[in-house]
Amino acid sequence: MNFQKVLEEIKARLDIVEVISEYIDLKRTGQNYRSLCPFHSEKTPSFFVSPSKQIFHCFGCGKGGDIVSFIMEYEKVSFSEAVSILAKKAEVEFKPLKESLSSAYKETLYKIYEEASYFFMEELKKSNKAKKYLKDRGIEDKTIEFFQLGYAPEEKDALYKYLKSRGFDDKTIKASGVVTSTGEDFFRDRVTIPIHDVSGKIIGFGGRLIQSVSQLPKYINSPDTPIFKKGESLFGIFQAKSHIKEKKYVIVVEGYMDVILSHQFGFKNTVAPLGTSVTEDQLKKLKKFTNKILLIFDGDEAGILAAQRVISSLFKVGFIVKIVLLPKNEDPASLLKKFGEKRLKSYISNAISPVELFVELGKDSSTENIHNFLLALSFLKDPIYRDELIKRISEKTGINEVALREKLKQFILNRKVKEIKNLKKEPFIPAEEETLIGILLSFPEKAREIIIKVNVEDFEAPIIRNIYSKILEIMKENIFSPSSLLNILNEEEKSFISKIIIKTEIEHKEINQIIQDCVKKLYVRNIDRKIKEAAKVGDEKILNELMKKRKEFLKLTNE
Ligand code: UTP
Ligand code: MN
Repeated sequence: MNFQKVLEEIKARLDIVEVISEYIDLKRTGQNYRSLCPFHSEKTPSFFVSPSKQIFHCFGCGKGGDIVSFIMEYEKVSFSEAVSILAKKAEVEFKPLKESLSSAYKETLYKIYEEASYFFMEELKKSNKAKKYLKDRGIEDKTIEFFQLGYAPEEKDALYKYLKSRGFDDKTIKASGVVTSTGEDFFRDRVTIPIHDVSGKIIGFGGRLIQSVSQLPKYINSPDTPIFKKGESLFGIFQAKSHIKEKKYVIVVEGYMDVILSHQFGFKNTVAPLGTSVTEDQLKKLKKFTNKILLIFDGDEAGILAAQRVISSLFKVGFIVKIVLLPKNEDPASLLKKFGEKRLKSYISNAISPVELFVELGKDSSTENIHNFLLALSFLKDPIYRDELIKRISEKTGINEVALREKLKQFILNRKVKEIKNLKKEPFIPAEEETLIGILLSFPEKAREIIIKVNVEDFEAPIIRNIYSKILEIMKENIFSPSSLLNILNEEEKSFISKIIIKTEIEHKEINQIIQDCVKKLYVRNIDRKIKEAAKVGDEKILNELMKKRKEFLKLTNE
């Protein structure tokens, strides 16, 4: 079965009301169902589900779409993961996009990375200086093997030649990023560190210089590809995941070497972001394994600032946080090599809470630090953890809890106001365009009639133009249905559509009149635009023709 068919089959078998009811409580109101929105906090329900149209929409936060959108949003999964979850519920057979072209391409990329890793590991065996470097860093042979460390030789195209000999085509080798577009190896004379995805497939490499060369960066990372997004990947996640679950917390450090040596010394639940500070996407990935996080940072001013900066993301994603600040110029790698695991362990057992990070270690424990902390705290949803932190900061600073809570409330309110303002910034959509699309979706049997009369260019709103051209695309080959449209819209378009569908509550008998009015408005508007243009360039002939057309049209339609 092809992908569209699978989707159709799933939607035919599952009812959106039943699916969403598995997650939240829906109450019937008229023809729709209603609930408090699961995607933002609210006191009066603005989350609607329409059983007849099989869509949902929240008028509070603007999220909406079909069952696939709901699962993506609720379970925080990708499109194809959502389809696969629903396929299970519907008992429809579904292999995630295996047959599709893009996934065949990805498979080739995985193979290239695997071959490259093999090549680098073999090269390491042959390179005494690389082996010596790793030994000097305190890395044991079994750790080298476990992390599949390797070495990229100095020669300018050794890997390129190897990959060619393995039968990969030139274009894909260069697109993979391990070889540049000019046919040179991306990593040269560096120790290579493979980066795995959660399931253990190699998706990228880091490379560390062996001798420091002043013009060259100490580390480089292979570029983002369809299988590798640096901002979403974590170094060490594959090796650490079972230990994170077992220990019930994750340690996040700054660098490759920190992860590698932490593992070697028994701190196996350790990961690192890739050269930047940890992102929200990375945190969401970690959240699948645990909700507790221990951050280890350099104890200098930059380290404290960096730690403070990630706290709000951690709260937003819902982590319980502890922080270790190491002495200046030490990182876990250097500390472990010099002093062994006991020293790191004792730092860990003295980890501080976010409160101390802000009020004791901030440059001065001024109101600014307290403000910053409360601002971060305003992202935290868990009321119990929030309470605990408020109590603690009150103890530390002597500021009374009530005042702290008051300030916190202000921050939360301010942000809500800002969020609402952002929602209001939606582009202006002419009413007749929205109505016409609404009718098209609510009464698909009218679609033929409308597409004969209305062109894509007749719409002004870009989002409607896009949606309308997708409708036309469908109608070239198939009968139009809202569900077939939802299958090919992006998330923004889906939520736009779901809003309109739920808003369109028009009596069936008025429909023909409304279509006529809308089409007329679009037509006249279009002629007026052309008239303006003609007037601007002073083309009298065209101007007269257009005026005539306009008059005739109005006469005709007013009869
Ligand atoms: P550090 O500069 O703290 O390196 O960068 P490190 O981990 O202590 O490295 P060693 O111990 O000297 O080998 C931390 C992380 O930042 C990224 C890497 O991911 C590194 O592990 N980084 C650093 C880069 O991407 N490029 C660089 O030039 C330097
Ligand atoms: Mn280091």
